[in-house]
Amino acid sequence: MNDRLQALHGTDSSRSWFERAHHSLAGGISSSSRLTSTGPHPYPLYMSSGSGSRIRDVDGNDYIDYLISYGSAVLGHAPPVLTDALTQVLRTGTMFGTCNVPEVELAEKICRMVPCAELVRFANSGSEAVQGAVRAARGHTERSRILKFEGHYHGWSDTLAISNRPTEQEAGPLATPRSVPHSPGIPAGVVEDVVVCPWNDLATLRTVLDAHGGELAAVICEPIVANNACTMPERGYLEALREECTARGIVLIFDEVCTGFRTGPGGAQTLFDVVPDIAVFSKALGGGLPIAAFAGRREVMEGLASGRVKHGGTYNASPLCATAALVTLRQLDDPAVIQRIDDTGRQVMEAAQKAAHDRGIPCSVQGVGAMFQTVFTSDGLPTRNYRDLLRVDQARSHAFRHELLKRGVHANAFPMACWFVSAAVTDDDLATTCTAVTEAFEVL
Ligand SMILES: Cc1ncc(COP(=O)(O)O)c(C=O)c1O
Repeated sequence: MNDRLQALHGTDSSRSWFERAHHSLAGGISSSSRLTSTGPHPYPLYMSSGSGSRIRDVDGNDYIDYLISYGSAVLGHAPPVLTDALTQVLRTGTMFGTCNVPEVELAEKICRMVPCAELVRFANSGSEAVQGAVRAARGHTERSRILKFEGHYHGWSDTLAISNRPTEQEAGPLATPRSVPHSPGIPAGVVEDVVVCPWNDLATLRTVLDAHGGELAAVICEPIVANNACTMPERGYLEALREECTARGIVLIFDEVCTGFRTGPGGAQTLFDVVPDIAVFSKALGGGLPIAAFAGRREVMEGLASGRVKHGGTYNASPLCATAALVTLRQLDDPAVIQRIDDTGRQVMEAAQKAAHDRGIPCSVQGVGAMFQTVFTSDGLPTRNYRDLLRVDQARSHAFRHELLKRGVHANAFPMACWFVSAAVTDDDLATTCTAVTEAFEVL
């Protein structure tokens, strides 16, 4: 499908940079997902600067940004409150590899904001922090297998890069999905340690838990499945998950890398009032700088606290990134900031719903204000699980995104991903976005 999209007018410099990049960067890119997520094809756009709600490409085109670095730049690009604080840290030293004051203040802040957080550890990326959470769960339970849900994404590391995007054929029967490695290079032993289950299906979950419960260290999920186009949990599902894990002594991990500090100060666990044993954070946490955390109940984190369970990292909680996170969390702890993000997103969602209705185009606009996606399901109903997403009209998604890009609105190109809303979107940006959405539906 992507090949049929025309190159975007006025983006020749991006094309040149992409051609040049192939000579030195493997595939011309720095992350495998960039080809699918930051298109448009036949070449990605090269961004050179960002300010507030907008980013600018190397040809000088401006876009209102709803990728915001996969949700990281939640306050917008180069917000003065952050750049001022970071400029100060640049002058006094960015990292010492020692204990430091901002890391303590940041951990205290997270413990105040997040219900499950009694003890915290920091890392540099979501993948790393997921690894830390899984290590803690295995250390605590002295079991090794992990249950994950088909289609949920928990980073690129071997541990959980399983059944992220299997084809229907690879995935096997819905009730007994196979564990499918996301890439060559993932050892069979790692794959065997991961049990896969369909999302939003309580009967199947209970069957899988009955079969494997005693072997499972943890169940991990994205409470709102950002990587499945913001598929929402069905009513009561997270509560049931919590009950089953408690009854079987399994550590429940919420991967809040996308939802954390964004769907509200306490993340999805506050939104749904379901408290996991450990939660993983990144993206919005750093406001655009690389930092991640896993935080959990004292009992489950005790192995780390005592030194029995190991976790390390040269760059963990550097003064630079810990300061960025502190500044960002102080903003996100302000109800007015979260409200603004949510209201903005909801108005874009409403514009998409109205445009779809007016044009008679079936689609589901799903998620919450801060993160959502327009999904072209054939019946217009929300998706329940990953398999539903295999049946959506992807060509229409790509065309929609391309029409938005032409109108100066930048969002993730991958139909299974989602839009993220920053606090920097102005009323004018919002009006421009809603007009662009309406016009895009008119040409679909
Ligand atoms: C839910 C979720 N978990 C984990 C990760 C991995 O984070 P990172 O890319 O920082 O390693 C991602 C990244 O998109 C994610 O969306």
